[in-house]
Amino acid sequence: MHQKKFVVSILIIVSVFALQSFNVKKDKVRNLQVLPKDISDDDLDKIMDTYCESLNVKCNFCHVKGDMASDEKEDKKITRKMMVMANEINEKYFGKDSGTVGCMTCHNGKKNPSDMK
Ligand code: HEC
Ligand code: HEC
Repeated sequence: MHQKKFVVSILIIVSVFALQSFNVKKDKVRNLQVLPKDISDDDLDKIMDTYCESLNVKCNFCHVKGDMASDEKEDKKITRKMMVMANEINEKYFGKDSGTVGCMTCHNGKKNPSDMK
């Protein structure tokens, strides 16, 4: 009897869920080339917070607003080199995964440590 109404409500419910999962997926797009691809959201957040603190910048210093996975900003690409460099310094002199030398060691709240010379 009310079959049509029933079908319509099911369709609405299904499309609401589809839209929600689309949004979640869009936020979760990753483009990791140095960090482990299976890193948890929490660990990724913590690392990104240390970048902000070490350079005293906001996320959009390196990221395009609304598209975190984009590599458009030069400072994001520079950061990948910095990550590799810091990993290599630690591995060679302090022990792999020691994290002894981090962004803060050199940047100390400045975007560009060369300014401190
Ligand atoms: C100093 C630069 C820098 C700052 C500041 C920064 N990020 Fe990132 N972020 C990166 C880099 C570089 C990567 C990619 C790392 C890789 O390739 O392994 C990344 C990756 C990400 C990713 C995964 C998408 C991708 O590109 O792989 C998310 C999400 C993210 N950052 C969120 C944030 C948030 C939120 C903030 C602010 C709290 C922030 N970032 C601050 C440099 C930065
Ligand atoms: C061993 C010291 C050292 C470490 C560790 C280090 N950096 Fe750097 N970083 C520098 C120096 C020096 C410069 C300036 C290079 C230049 O002027 O050409 C720089 C420049 C940068 C820049 C470019 C700034 C600008 O002027 O736009 C970014 C972004 C950056 N570093 C991010 C990071 C992040 C994020 C980390 C941690 C993963 C990090 N750095 C770790 C020494 C370091």
